[in-house]
Amino acid sequence: HSASLTLDPAFRVAEVDPRLFGSFVEHMGRCVYTGIYEPEHPSADAHGFRTDVADLVRDLGVPIVRYPGGNFVSGYNWEDGIGPRDQRPARLDLAWRSIESNQVGVDDFQEWARGIGTETMMAVNLGTRGVDAARRLVEYCNHSSGTQWSDLRRSNGSADPYGIKLWCLGNEMDGPWQIGHKTAEEYARLAHETAKAMKLVDPTIELVACGSSNSRMPTFGSWEATVLAECYEDVDYISAHTYYEERGGDRDSFLACAVDMDNFIDSVVATADHVRAVGRHKKRINISFDEWNVWYIGKFVGEKNLEWADKPRLIEDVYSVTDAVVVGTLLNSLLRHADRVSIACLAQLVNVIAPIRSEPGGPAWRQSIYHPFALTSKYGRGTVLRVEPTSPVHDTAWQGEVPVLDSVAVLDEESGAVTVFAVNRDQTTPVTLDLDLRGMTGLARGSHTCLSDDDPEAVNSAEQPDRVVPRDAGSISLDGGRAQVVLPPLSWNMLRLE
Ligand code: AHR
Repeated sequence: HSASLTLDPAFRVAEVDPRLFGSFVEHMGRCVYTGIYEPEHPSADAHGFRTDVADLVRDLGVPIVRYPGGNFVSGYNWEDGIGPRDQRPARLDLAWRSIESNQVGVDDFQEWARGIGTETMMAVNLGTRGVDAARRLVEYCNHSSGTQWSDLRRSNGSADPYGIKLWCLGNEMDGPWQIGHKTAEEYARLAHETAKAMKLVDPTIELVACGSSNSRMPTFGSWEATVLAECYEDVDYISAHTYYEERGGDRDSFLACAVDMDNFIDSVVATADHVRAVGRHKKRINISFDEWNVWYIGKFVGEKNLEWADKPRLIEDVYSVTDAVVVGTLLNSLLRHADRVSIACLAQLVNVIAPIRSEPGGPAWRQSIYHPFALTSKYGRGTVLRVEPTSPVHDTAWQGEVPVLDSVAVLDEESGAVTVFAVNRDQTTPVTLDLDLRGMTGLARGSHTCLSDDDPEAVNSAEQPDRVVPRDAGSISLDGGRAQVVLPPLSWNMLRLE
């Protein structure tokens, strides 16, 4: 196979918002407890946070982390998680049939986030609660002092306000599984009034309204239209969520899921812009893709915990080489839409469908998907260039004909370096990629990093934490502004041109 793409600094999509490389910590399974927090662990710091996990989170490169849910937030009383730990109530978490000890709450999470050097994207409960609990939480977090809630934060140990800038108005409120599920009209009104009150407390915050839980929801499209028609001026973003898995052994379709993500994003953009036109609005609503990943949901449905359990092992998916390649294409899709997707959160961060795994009292390690994420977060900052690749196509049962090459290019304006992220979806045939760089000045050399394996199902584990890692695939020579790189079958590739 041969494919080509042309790089030219004049053709720009947009600057990448670093929040595109966000992640997500939910009170679910072992994401918080024995994930980020385990006071009995040998690596725990004075606050009970695992430093081995924190080190991996830092290296992953997540500038923002969504918290505390997910479905969990729709039944959450944030007040349960503040104050002296021994006085916090244990509660039933109805979303995940778990016991929530509340040993980690808002203040603790801020402590953890500060240690990591990441921002928080805070979600408020619009399932069982509403305007009042949400505005109090903003006051608790962001008001300096002199009121009941801000002074309570101070007496709980945080003299300075947290200044949390980004807030989610509930979670997946279109889903019948959601506690306090609402119709689009019901949610739209509640989101509007909650947004208004939250911004009255702190006008500097940005708000994300719930979009659809996935593009197969029966209300997809009309949900976004109804919600935005009601709240357009009060919110800043509309959310999107999606998870993909290989079904029935159809790997070609699975490898094509970024095509579905591209279409999903285009549809939400079209809907938001339609509402903009009808309402004669000036600003544009961009997307917060605040849950995305590979998730073997089919497997989860069979292993749901039926008994109430404390930190149960929930959806601890083990990711393969193929999953890592797919995650690479999903990152490419987000970058390709850098003009309209401002925020995205890999769901989740530790143990629960996560790039990082940890064992209670034991080690922490990187899953396969960690690697494309960390490298894309590190080198995918800058300005996305429009590349218009040519590529052979192949047929898939799910997405029809798709290009074998999935690619995106990001220019670092400061250094002039360009990074091309390129996936070969073909499972058996290499792709020779011709790069036309004549429009780029000052590029002298290149390097090729590749993630592929003879065994596409190879995984990392506690015993073999580095079984799947990207390897150095050699240097790229530039000849008269042209270069050629061979992308192995089923591979994720990073081409750095400097
Ligand atoms: O990330 C796991 C769950 O998936 C989240 O709680 C929910 O928002 C989504 O359905």
